[in-house]
Amino acid sequence: MKASDMGDDLEKILITEEEIKQRLAQMAAEIDRDYEGKEILLVGVLRGAIMVMADLARAISTPLEMDWMAVSSYGSGTKSSGVVRILKDLDSDLTGKHVLIVEDIIDSGLTLSWLKTNLASRGPVSVEIATLLRKPEAAKVDVDVKYVGFDIPNEFVIGYGLDYAEKYRNLPFVGTLAPHVYEAVSE
Ligand code: IMP
Ligand code: MG
Repeated sequence: MKASDMGDDLEKILITEEEIKQRLAQMAAEIDRDYEGKEILLVGVLRGAIMVMADLARAISTPLEMDWMAVSSYGSGTKSSGVVRILKDLDSDLTGKHVLIVEDIIDSGLTLSWLKTNLASRGPVSVEIATLLRKPEAAKVDVDVKYVGFDIPNEFVIGYGLDYAEKYRNLPFVGTLAPHVYEAVSE
């Protein structure tokens, strides 16, 4: 999907495809340095992290496995419910693994703080977090995020895996929606 396919639904592009690509390459280089001589288990958080996972994993040289988890903290709207549920658990045993959680975005930080504690209780050697985007609210929660792509303003964003009511995940960039899009959907 391209910006031009969105008509006037797109308000603005916040981070371009090229900027994402460059930043993920830098993050991958950092990860390769930090995990030298080790193996990584990347844990992608469905569904938002699919694009970050695919592109970050391909930029990493360190041997790795990928697994997926689905948790829910949001409904179809734009507000955090604060409730985290496991919709799909990992298939892997975490004993002795270096786990790196891969996320699209940290907003309130509630999801990740819960997830990190949950995975840490399963016997891994380490659990770290990589996220493409981080909003200002995340600073209020005490969760250590080792790799951050971009700090963004407190706006609802879509694209590159991020959805609004399940749409726009297939945009190659991160952007915001025009207000009329939200008004059109009744919740
Ligand atoms: P948190 O628990 O508030 O940190 O929310 C984390 C999850 O909410 C993310 O993994 C996203 O799936 C979703 N989310 C938070 N902010 C946005 C946004 O701006 N656009 C789309 N999804 C978002
Ligand atoms: Mg997510």
